[in-house]
Amino acid sequence: MSSAPVLPDGWTLVALDSVSSTSDEAGRLADAGAPEGTFVWARQQTGGRGRRGRSWASAVGNLYCSTVVRPDCPAPRAAELGFVAALAVADIVPPARQIRLKWPNDVLVDGGKIAGILPESSVRQDGTVEYVVLGIGVNVGFAPQLPEMRYPGAMLGGTVEQAAGALAAGLARWMKEWRQSGFEEIRAGWMAKAGPLGAEMDVRLGEGLVSGRYAGLDRDGGLLLDTPKGPLRIVSGELLGRTA
Ligand code: BTN
Repeated sequence: MSSAPVLPDGWTLVALDSVSSTSDEAGRLADAGAPEGTFVWARQQTGGRGRRGRSWASAVGNLYCSTVVRPDCPAPRAAELGFVAALAVADIVPPARQIRLKWPNDVLVDGGKIAGILPESSVRQDGTVEYVVLGIGVNVGFAPQLPEMRYPGAMLGGTVEQAAGALAAGLARWMKEWRQSGFEEIRAGWMAKAGPLGAEMDVRLGEGLVSGRYAGLDRDGGLLLDTPKGPLRIVSGELLGRTA
């Protein structure tokens, strides 16, 4: 019999056999006042959601969890927490494997996507963040291969419970870093695991496509690209196949 994940001190585990989406459940709990560190984990999801309206394959065997965090910051800073989550995911990957973080929140291991991150915020009328739900799916026991995926799938191995405990510990650690040192430390940590500067990439912007060379992450988490028409800062877009 498998045991429940061990969470950091002060965190609360909400363990479910099946739910439509752990992020919907975490959002409901946060609306009802659940504190930071509420960690909703389900063995399977019947309506797992990905970014950009995609679905997220959620059969038993992988990790599906959503964590409530209460950063109490201006709304534009909420995007920084997606990078916090990416660093927490990177920390659960054994050092022998090659990690590559892709803007904004993808984690690739040995060239395959191992996790998906879906940060969703609730903003107060005064423009500050009430809470963020960090929805994270990690391929632990199998790697879905779907036609719409931009990267091949990769998987972590081990047990879902181990992955959940390690991920929660990483989230607590990187949230503390974010609070103490601000985004600069997160940005530096993320860039250290991202592709090399100058790598060519294509980014979809709405219906359009821009190509350029990767020039880093700006102080707000925007992607910097050197294009033939000059430097470009991208706050919302999607990296396409040709990336380093
Ligand atoms: C992506 O498109 O890359 C993000 C996928 C995020 C999936 C996770 S699984 C746990 C949480 N619940 C959801 O419905 N989605 C996120």
